[in-house]
Amino acid sequence: MKVHIFDTKEKLYDEVSNYYIERLNKNPNLNLGLATGTTPIPLYDRLIEAYKKGLVSFKGVKAFNLDEYLGLEKNHHQSYYYFMRNQLFNHIDINQNNCFIPSGDNPDHETAKKEYQELLKQNQVDIQLLGIGSNGHIGFNEPNTPFDTKTHVVKLDEKTRIDNSRLFNSLDEVPTHAITMGISEIMNAKEIIVIATGSNKKDAVYEMIKGNISENVPATVLQRHPNVTVYIDKDAASKL
Ligand code: F6R
Repeated sequence: MKVHIFDTKEKLYDEVSNYYIERLNKNPNLNLGLATGTTPIPLYDRLIEAYKKGLVSFKGVKAFNLDEYLGLEKNHHQSYYYFMRNQLFNHIDINQNNCFIPSGDNPDHETAKKEYQELLKQNQVDIQLLGIGSNGHIGFNEPNTPFDTKTHVVKLDEKTRIDNSRLFNSLDEVPTHAITMGISEIMNAKEIIVIATGSNKKDAVYEMIKGNISENVPATVLQRHPNVTVYIDKDAASKL
């Protein structure tokens, strides 16, 4: 695991976005595993800016998102489908038919799971982007998720719902369940990039990098992956 610590978030996001641009220019047909949440927004902003300047194209990219809330309609302002279109896909030249997100609005969860599992079996992700939950979750794989899981439906941890309630009008509105790429599918990516900023991530970051590998803290599984790079600011790194 390579760990890069930055004085400022600006430097961190400049570095990560330059890396994506470089990789996309070398291989315009990358399969990108993408994340939602607050963490990737400054990266997506920089990628949009680079696209507008003609420095990068996403025409050949396929995008595979980590997760989606269950029960929100696609056009709900907090659905990850809506998030991805607003924060990235609508502003770049990606083919929207090549943008995949587990389907949280399909009441047949079994089919939704199987479809996404099959999709990930057919398409290996080249670079998987991850944020990390303050409880150490990756995707929505909450503590004690077995490491061998494929795409599955999860009950969200109360901590996750409270963390994410900042984006809803109230905690009651935060969905209780989600569908997420499984840990084994995340680990199947050729390369993984983790970004974490802010002191509320310091415990999870410490565990991910220095903790014992344990299903209690899903992010510790990343220690077993041969190609992980962690980009953190000094607040997230403060316990290391
Ligand atoms: C998002 C995801 C989550 C987030 C994590 C951190 O698709 O899978 O694991 O990366 O909850 O969220 P933020 O970035 O909002 O702190």
